[in-house]
Amino acid sequence: MPGLRFEGYVIVSGDGMLADARNVMPDELKFEGDKRFFSAALDRAALIVHGRNSHEDQPNSPRRKRIILTHRVAATAPDPSNANALLWNPAGATFEEACERAGVTSGTVAIIGGPDVFDMFMDRYDTFWLSIAPKVRLPGGEPCFPGVGEKTPQQILAAHGLKPGEAQMLDPQDGVSVTPWRRS
Ligand SMILES: NC(=O)c1ccc[n+]([C@@H]2O[C@H](COP(=O)([O-])OP(=O)(O)OC[C@H]3O[C@@H](n4cnc5c(N)ncnc54)[C@H](OP(=O)(O)O)[C@@H]3O)[C@@H](O)[C@H]2O)c1
Repeated sequence: MPGLRFEGYVIVSGDGMLADARNVMPDELKFEGDKRFFSAALDRAALIVHGRNSHEDQPNSPRRKRIILTHRVAATAPDPSNANALLWNPAGATFEEACERAGVTSGTVAIIGGPDVFDMFMDRYDTFWLSIAPKVRLPGGEPCFPGVGEKTPQQILAAHGLKPGEAQMLDPQDGVSVTPWRRS
């Protein structure tokens, strides 16, 4: 779909994890500056895409149009609990079909996780915004992308043709920054 632009967003610990060993995003990975950055980006997006466990849970969330991946439907179906959400099983419908059913054919698509969902769009990102909390370690946690552990998140983004731009400091006290990885 030529009118769509793809952007990814994640915050990871210094060891590349997006959640702890219980598969929960812990408070130690939540920072005010990063939350503001993420929330402003999602407010600008035409569509948010995420797996069933990765709802961003912010004050503006109910207003945002979203596609939620799940095996609970065969192809696509309205979300009975959210008029702004479409449930999507990629085994039964293409992403383009899901977008049409969601009524989105142009604008920015924000991909917000989890790992398998990030991976599915790895060759389509125009920009992937990688936030890092360097002082946080989450041993036994959930790697942000499949393959993180043997490789760093940066190596995986680079292997998919993305190159780092200038980092922006989001939370100076904790050294949390975000780097845009762009397709050149
Ligand atoms: N630090 C961050 O920036 C960040 C970002 C995102 C998520 N997180 C955290 O990571 C954790 C969630 O991770 P998660 O591994 O559970 O990921 P998730 O992708 O949110 O949820 C996994 C579920 O999504 C559905 N799904 C994913 N891929 C699918 C596919 N190809 N086809 C059909 N359904 C698919 C399945 O739902 P069904 O079981 O319904 O089939 C699957 O069980 C949470 O703690 C979340 O807060 C953190």
